Amino acid sequence: MNVITTLQSLREYIELQKRECNKIAFVPTMGNLHQGHLDLVERAQSLADLVIVSIFVNPLQFEAGGDLDNYPKTLEADIEKLQQAGVDMLFAPDIQEVYGDNLSAITQVIVPGISALWCGASRAGHFEGVTTIVNKLFNLVQPDIAVFGEKDFQQLTIIRIMVRDLSIPVEIVSVATSREADGLAMSSRNGYLTKDEREIAAKLYETLVNVREILISERNPDFQKITQQAANSLNQKGFKTDYLAVCRQSDLQLAGPEDRKLVILAAAHLGKARLIDNLILDKLPAERLE
Ligand code: PAF
Repeated sequence: MNVITTLQSLREYIELQKRECNKIAFVPTMGNLHQGHLDLVERAQSLADLVIVSIFVNPLQFEAGGDLDNYPKTLEADIEKLQQAGVDMLFAPDIQEVYGDNLSAITQVIVPGISALWCGASRAGHFEGVTTIVNKLFNLVQPDIAVFGEKDFQQLTIIRIMVRDLSIPVEIVSVATSREADGLAMSSRNGYLTKDEREIAAKLYETLVNVREILISERNPDFQKITQQAANSLNQKGFKTDYLAVCRQSDLQLAGPEDRKLVILAAAHLGKARLIDNLILDKLPAERLE
């Protein structure tokens, strides 16, 4: 596997691949790789001639005083995993290489509205940081396809909107959330959980499954009441629920009774970890529930 750390070498590498007409699939990451990332790599491999992964802990998407400094950095172990997975190239630049001395005044790519909802409401500037780096990485890597996990459903939706609005010639492919045996969504942040917290962490997924069951079985479900009860029950189990909401898949606004393509979004603190998860639901019209 090639490991490239500078923009210049990346440009030369990409130029060569384009000349050879290789179809490129790209998996952007922040490292600390787990099976969920390797599932994205596997999907990428099934879709293209060449798979490029990036590892870059992007300071723009962390709040000042947030967990940037504590974010786990495990480059050597990550390289080993990517090599074993048969990845063709890893792009792993440092902050200076990506942003130069211009980090505080960098041009930003902003998807308005949706970036301020949900995770964006509690993590100011987070999605602006994500869309800026993803756009920049797309310009550098020039992939045909980019693969993202559905666990970060809001991120995925925002990136799809960015690609549509800016006519970026990259096909966005999503992969279902990879889960531990008890249902907990795989995440680098699970490493922050203590042993006791880890035992209750899967209740977040269980709660979402429960909400989905209710939405499927009730004729006219009261979204507000159901999600409030679910959040209360999570809080009783030791979580501090940030949000739990039934939204429209397209724009993540709160869903109404007429909406069919739904996603149940949740974020909750458990000890030092902030866990997010979601479940997608394509609801049948009431008259077909009989
Ligand atoms: O999902 C992530 O790991 C990051 O938000 C991403 C897409 C690599 C951008 O830094």
